[in-house]
Amino acid sequence: LHVVHIAAEMAPVAKVGGLGDVVAGLSKALQKKGHLVEIILPKYDCMDYDRVRDLRALDVAVESYFDGRLFKNKIWVGTVEGLPVYFIEPLHPDKLFWRGQFYGERDDFKRFSFFSRAALELLLQAGKKPDIIHCHDWQTAFVAPLYWDLYAPKGLNSARICFTCHNFEYQGTAPASDLASCGLDVGQLNRPDRMQDNSAHDRINPVKGAVVFSNIVTTVSLTYAQEVRSAEGGRGLHSTLNFHSKKFVGILNGIDADAWNPATDAYLKVQYTANDLGGKAENKEAIRKSLGLSYADVRRPLVGCITRLVPQKGVHLIRHAIYRTLELGGQFVLLGSSPVHHIQKEFEAIANHFQSHDHIRLILKYDETLSHSIYAASDMFIIPSIFEPCGLTQMIAMRYGSIPIARKTGGLNDSVFDVDDDTVPLQFRNGYSFLSPDEQGLNGALERAFNHYLSKPESWRQLVQKDMNIDFSWDTSASQYEELYSKSVARARATIR
Ligand code: ADP
Ligand code: GLC
Repeated sequence: LHVVHIAAEMAPVAKVGGLGDVVAGLSKALQKKGHLVEIILPKYDCMDYDRVRDLRALDVAVESYFDGRLFKNKIWVGTVEGLPVYFIEPLHPDKLFWRGQFYGERDDFKRFSFFSRAALELLLQAGKKPDIIHCHDWQTAFVAPLYWDLYAPKGLNSARICFTCHNFEYQGTAPASDLASCGLDVGQLNRPDRMQDNSAHDRINPVKGAVVFSNIVTTVSLTYAQEVRSAEGGRGLHSTLNFHSKKFVGILNGIDADAWNPATDAYLKVQYTANDLGGKAENKEAIRKSLGLSYADVRRPLVGCITRLVPQKGVHLIRHAIYRTLELGGQFVLLGSSPVHHIQKEFEAIANHFQSHDHIRLILKYDETLSHSIYAASDMFIIPSIFEPCGLTQMIAMRYGSIPIARKTGGLNDSVFDVDDDTVPLQFRNGYSFLSPDEQGLNGALERAFNHYLSKPESWRQLVQKDMNIDFSWDTSASQYEELYSKSVARARATIR
């Protein structure tokens, strides 16, 4: 198959969170299975250009329509992690992707609806005929209606559209009239069975549009796929998802087992394997020294947390976990940052309070290198999310032998199984989980983990080894995507015949 991903993120060059990991990891896995996979991204000024190989501009610009006129787009090609990537640089006076950040701009709707159209225009003008165009989240959700309204009729008609929603909290709604800029017909689309937002009728909803207009709709775990079909979980889209339930499935994400491998990870002080955990202990000592934490007591458990600090992640529980860990005699390292001003300020105050403390350190920024060291150094890893479509940090933590303490929700519910839960077969139990999204819930799981760690070191070591050997790679999940793609392509061909 020829698969083209159109996305706003791709690790490691343009990553804000898990979306970037998924675009890279899924693409690599599909490429390994023999498919032709290409990715189209915006050309951001703030990308990690060191990780793009052989970047060069094509001679011919691609023209795309927006706001009633044509704009030129400079097209760059390069290789990221062995994958061919096209980067679109719109020659637009507003310098759409030259803003020093990936998202969070006032005109994000305009930036990404422009990009979605330019990406389709690139496929058309380059004469590409992908079997699957796979778009992700609201930023590239526009691709689905644009494709059927404008590009299938123009000759790009061999493709099936797959849309993956990584988080239904972000739907990109906007006043209905804003949709016209990218050339979509507002009158046709601002209807309840198309793109009209289910609660605000003067607004359009790009994610709803992608659900309606795609051939395949996925989200990133089975439990979350169930949750979003209920009134509480669907953020207003449950009725749309139920109506389109035949094409909607949950597929649990994997992690890139090469990028996240403690045996080869170049970011680590010492590489290690499940059979040689001495290296993990050395990473723990190294990070304690480099962060200025006390390292006298080797057995003092180190709890890690790496996250975007947004309400979804249970910020109040993360804050609570810092204090509770201290009371229990552990150490806590948080790496995270927040796009929400008051949350960032609140954590800055906590960071300052503990800035020379022996056992607590908060590092409030995005730092890829440090994230690897924390996964490797920590004994436990906390993910108290209020909701979590999939979550990758629990899988990465396990791969590095850090035992997850996670709330039972979404993809966490599908990947973390409590060691004390006798409804789960013993061989699948791999961490600690709790249901109630409050301090008592968290305390219970944290205390059980501390007890286990402190009173049964041998059994803990076995748990660490078991978690490091779990296969969280993309292999299985990529096969599920492969099957969905193939069936959809076969159905389309059968219809045409
Ligand atoms: P989400 O996409 O909702 O943020 P995921 O668990 O799916 O959550 O993915 C988060 C990804 O981002 C992981 O790869 C994690 O290591 C990374 N990450 C989150 N915060 C930071 C940070 N401050 N510095 C480095 N990496 C981070
Ligand atoms: C979103 C979700 C997260 C998921 C990631 C990748 O950011 O919040 O749970 O793991 O996308 O699919």
